[in-house]
Amino acid sequence: MTPDIKPLVAGNWKMNGARDQLDQLALMSRGLDDELAAKVESAVCPPATLIYVATTLSEDTPLIVGAQDCHAEASGAHTGDISAEMIADCLGELCIVGHSERRTDHGETDASVLAKTVACWRAGLTAIVCIGETEAQYDAGEAEAVLSRQLAASVPDGAKETNTIIAYEPVWAIGTGKTPSPDDIASIHALLRDRLVERFGGPGERMRILYGGSVKPGNAAEILSILNVDGALVGGASLKAEDFLAICEVYRDV
Ligand code: 13P
Repeated sequence: MTPDIKPLVAGNWKMNGARDQLDQLALMSRGLDDELAAKVESAVCPPATLIYVATTLSEDTPLIVGAQDCHAEASGAHTGDISAEMIADCLGELCIVGHSERRTDHGETDASVLAKTVACWRAGLTAIVCIGETEAQYDAGEAEAVLSRQLAASVPDGAKETNTIIAYEPVWAIGTGKTPSPDDIASIHALLRDRLVERFGGPGERMRILYGGSVKPGNAAEILSILNVDGALVGGASLKAEDFLAICEVYRDV
């Protein structure tokens, strides 16, 4: 947590979920009462096929809907891609960019992630920019250098708390059940905060820095209590309303 920053718990459904998964989304939006919604923002990023129906279902509830990726261009000959404008047209409000699975599977670079972030802003979306070191980089003591480099090169000038959220996701912690120690998370998030403040000043102090990688109900309270951890980007545990809501509930009494 960071004083004066409203945290965000965002679910990344990845390539999971047919229409019947929307039952879980409906349960999530119903579980977010006004008292909880005053303490924490909650979002779900379903596959693109479900975005529009998800925004329709969550209309008039506190649950925000986002996307998992966008193309940098607004339209054109890019078979299979969707643009930030299309996400906005489906009433999505957020878009994850630069997730490590896209960096690995689709060869995305810091430069392409930066361009996608600009595209999000152009369409009025808030970008969740993901960065994270691999296990080899972590073991070699290179995490801080790698993360500083990714942050500098993936986040455009002009980033501020209303258009950009940072997500620190150690690649080796994604889907593995492994997480860094609380001390390691604290020191990485402090480093990211320092870098954001150095570059962006006041907005850098107010930008949210999420932690992602094997967050679940059993470890959420410990991770989310760490200074400069302003919420979580949750994969597997965001597919079940019960688990997703249990993570949001951490904020009810703080
Ligand atoms: P898991 O929570 O399944 O480890 O996934 C994290 C993630 O990649 C969220 O973007």
